[in-house]
Amino acid sequence: MSKIYTFLDLEKVNRPFMPEIKAALESVALSGRYIGGAEVDRFERQLAEATGTAHAVGVANGLDALRLIFRSLVLLGRLSPGDEVLIPANTYIASFLAVSDAGLRPVPVDIDADTSNMSAGSVARAITPRVRAVMPVHLYGRVCWNRELSEIVARHNLVVVEDNAQAIGAVGHEPGLWGNVRSGAIGHAAAFSFYPTKNIGAMGDAGAVTTGDTELAAAVRTLANYGSDRRYHNIYRGCNSRMDPVQAAVLNVKLPHADAVNGGRRRTASIYLEEIKNPLVSLPAPAGTDCVWHQFVVRTPQRDRFKDWLENRGVYTDINYPVPCHRQPCYRGELDGYILPVAEEQARTLLCLPIACVGDDDAREIAAIINSYKEND
Ligand SMILES: Cc1ncc(COP(=O)(O)O)c(C=O)c1O
Repeated sequence: MSKIYTFLDLEKVNRPFMPEIKAALESVALSGRYIGGAEVDRFERQLAEATGTAHAVGVANGLDALRLIFRSLVLLGRLSPGDEVLIPANTYIASFLAVSDAGLRPVPVDIDADTSNMSAGSVARAITPRVRAVMPVHLYGRVCWNRELSEIVARHNLVVVEDNAQAIGAVGHEPGLWGNVRSGAIGHAAAFSFYPTKNIGAMGDAGAVTTGDTELAAAVRTLANYGSDRRYHNIYRGCNSRMDPVQAAVLNVKLPHADAVNGGRRRTASIYLEEIKNPLVSLPAPAGTDCVWHQFVVRTPQRDRFKDWLENRGVYTDINYPVPCHRQPCYRGELDGYILPVAEEQARTLLCLPIACVGDDDAREIAAIINSYKEND
C-alpha cells in the first residue's frame, strides 16, 4: 500500500490542543451557563486584542458575521437598500449571500492572476455612483489591501467590509502608508469564520465581527440577539446568532497559537514554492507575513486530470472554488452577464494542495510527485 497524503485531517490538527480542549469543555459543562458567559467574553477580548480592534463580537458563523455587518450598516443609514458592493468573483458564496440578504447588490469584480485577490484595476473600472462599499476578501489567507485600493476607497468614500474568514493572523504592510496591520483591522468592519477547516477552527460553527466602530459593534451585538437591547425589548427585527460558549471554549485554547499554526503553514508553503518546478504547474506569488496560507493553490490547464493523477499517487487535493459566484445558479439572471476572465480561468485550473500539518518530508515528497507529472501521463 503506497503512502497517503491526506488533504486535511482535523483530528490531527486538533490533537496537540486536546488535553486543554477537554478541560475547557468540561468547565463549560460544569458551569451551568450555556449561552454567553465567561468563555464568550474572554474570546471576544482575546480576538479584539489579537486583531488590534476596539471591539470583537462572537457570532454563530462566518456567514452571519457578514450578514450582521451589512444589515447593521443599512440599519445605521451608512448604506441604503440597492447600494452596490464590489466583491471578488472567486470568493466563497457567503460573501455574496450576505450582501444580497441585506437588500444590497453584489457586483462581482475580477482578480489579480498572481495573488488571486481582487485587483485594484477591476475595482477602479467598476466604480459608479451606485457603488457605496467594497469587500476585500483575504482569499487563501493573503491580505487583500494595498495603496491603490486604499486610494480608490478614499477617493469615493466607500465603506470597507473585510471578509477575513480565511486569513486570521495575516499582517499587511504598505511602506509609507501604514506599518503592520492585521487583517480584520483594515476596514470599517471585518467578518471571521471559525469553521472547523479554517486556520483556527472550532469544533462546530462559529464566527466573529471585529470593528473599531462602537455604534456598529453595538448594532451587530443587538441584531444577533433578537434585536434586543435589553430583556424583552426589541429595537430591531433581529435573529439568533450568538456564539456558542462550547465553541468559544475551544477557540480560547487555540487562538493564542494562531501565529505558530500560521508559521507551520508558511513553512510548508515555502517548501512547495522552492521545490515545485514543473512547467505545467503555476505557483502562487510568494508572500511574507501578509499570507497565512489557508490554501496553497497551484494552477494547471488540465486540472481535473492532474487531480486524478495525484490521487492515484496518494496525494489528495481540493478545489476552492470550482464555480465563480456570479456563475452560481442562485444568481442566474442577475449576475451571469458579467465576464471576468481571470476569475473564470482560475476556477477551471486551480487546485489546492495539502497545507495543514504537513511535515517537511511530506511536503518535499509531494513536490517531487508533482515534478514527475508530464503532459501525456
Ligand atoms: C471567504 C469566506 N467567506 C465566508 C465564509 C463563511 O463562513 P462560515 O462557513 O463560518 O459561515 C467562508 C467559510 O466558509 C469563507 O471561506
